[in-house]
Amino acid sequence: MASDPAPLVLVSNRGPLSFRHGDDGALVARRGAGGLISGIGPLVAGTDTTWLAAAISEGDRAAAEQGTVAAEGFQVRLLTLDPEAYRLAYDVVSNGALWFAHHGLWDLVHEPAFDRTWPEAWDAYRYVNEAFAAAVCDAAPEGAVVLVQDYHLALVGRELTRARPDLTAVHFTHTPFAPPVWLTPLPEGAARELLDGMAAHHACGFHTRAWVDDHAASHAALGTRPPAPSFASPLASDPDDIRATAASEACDAAVARLEGLVGDRRVIGRVDRLELSKNIVRGFLAFDDLLEQHPEHRGRVTFVAGCYPSRTGVPAYARYRERVEETVGRINERWARDDWTPIVLEMEDDYPRSVALMRRADVMLVNPVRDGLNLVASETALVNERDAALCLSPQAGAFERLGDAAVPAPPFDVAGTADALHRALTLDPVERRGRAATLRRLAEERTPRHWLDDQLRAATQR
Ligand code: F6P
Repeated sequence: MASDPAPLVLVSNRGPLSFRHGDDGALVARRGAGGLISGIGPLVAGTDTTWLAAAISEGDRAAAEQGTVAAEGFQVRLLTLDPEAYRLAYDVVSNGALWFAHHGLWDLVHEPAFDRTWPEAWDAYRYVNEAFAAAVCDAAPEGAVVLVQDYHLALVGRELTRARPDLTAVHFTHTPFAPPVWLTPLPEGAARELLDGMAAHHACGFHTRAWVDDHAASHAALGTRPPAPSFASPLASDPDDIRATAASEACDAAVARLEGLVGDRRVIGRVDRLELSKNIVRGFLAFDDLLEQHPEHRGRVTFVAGCYPSRTGVPAYARYRERVEETVGRINERWARDDWTPIVLEMEDDYPRSVALMRRADVMLVNPVRDGLNLVASETALVNERDAALCLSPQAGAFERLGDAAVPAPPFDVAGTADALHRALTLDPVERRGRAATLRRLAEERTPRHWLDDQLRAATQR
C-alpha cells in the first residue's frame, strides 16, 4: 500500500499574500507580487501546506499576531522579525550583496567595498535565517518535507538538521548562482558560510544546469564541506492561472486602454520589476538604435514597458530608476511626433495590466544580463493573441528550454539587440506563427506540478 505523502512546509522571504488594514479596520489579504508567487502560489493554494514568510508590511505584522491565517486558499504563517535586523538582512546582505554576486552586477573597479558595518549585517542575515528555522521547527509536522526558497534563506537547513532530524529540507535558488569569480568579492567568511549553509540541506535545486554547475564550481573553489546533491528543475507558469487572469474583466479593460494608447501600431513589450539585472536601459537604447537604423518603424512601433519599482531601499535601485526615466525622456524627445509617443513607461504595478501587455504585444523583449529563469517569457506565450515573437537573452535561464524558438537578444550588445528587435518585427508570418506555436507548446508542456515533483523526488533520495 502506498504511504501517505509527507506533509509540506514552504518557506520564503516574501509570502503569497500581503496584508493591509481595510477602511473598517479589518485585515485585507492581497496576492503578493513576484515570479516565485505566480509560479508556486497556484500549486499550494487549496492545500493544507503551511507557508512561512516574513511579515513585511504593517498589516503583515498584525496578521502575524493571529498565528496561521487562512486566506485565498493559503495557510500562511508570518514571522515578525526585528525591523532593523530584517532591513540589514534584506537590503544589505540579500539584495545589496548576494543578488549582485549571483547576477554578476558589481562594477569591480568601485564595488563592493565591505567596511566595518558588514559583520553586523551578516549577523542580521544569520539571525533572520535562524528565526525562520525556529519557526519551521515549531510549525512542521513530524516527517515533513520543508521547501526552503531562495538566497535570502540559504542557512535555514543548518539549524533544522540539528533540531529536527525528522524533517527533510530541500533548498531551491530562484536566481542564478555566482561562479567563483563573482563569489570571491564577498568577505571570505560569508562566502564559505553561505555555501556550507546550503550544503546543510538534503538537496539543492536550481532552475538550470548552468546554475548547478556554477554552484558546484564555487564549492570546489571555496567550500569547506561537500555540496548537497544538486538538481536542475525550471519552475513554470501555471497555464490555467494566467489564462484566468487574461480572461478577466480587469484584463479586458486594460487591453482596451492599451489599444487606446497604441491604436493599430505594433507593440514591443516588456514586463519586469525595475531591477538592475533586467537590463532595461540597454533595451531602450536598442529601441533608439532600431529607430535610427530603420526609419520604417518610426511612428509605427510603440515600446510599452511595464517596469515596477522594487527594492527601493537599495541605493543602486534608486539610481537605476533615474537612469531608466532619463533614458526614456531622451529617446521620446528625439523621436516623438504629435500623434506618437515612442516609449510608454508604466511604473504602477498592476497584474491584469501586465497580462494585457502580454496579450497585445507583437514582440516581447526579455533581455536580462543574467536571470535565474524569467517567467514572463513563457507567460507571454500562454496568453498572447498575436503570435508574438520573443527576443530572449541567452543569459536568462528560460533560454535553455525556449531559446530555439526565440530570437536571441545579446544582452550587452545594444546594436545586436536592435537587430534582434528588427528581425522579430519582420519575421515572415509563417515562421512567426511556427515559432509562437512552439513557444506555446513548450510553455504548456511544463507546469508548476513538474517542478514540485522534482522537489519531492530530491527529498526522497537519501
Ligand atoms: O528572482 C528571485 C526572486 O526572489 C523571485 O523569486 C522573486 O519573484 C523576486 O526575486 C522578488 O524579489 P523581492 O521579494 O525582493 O521583491
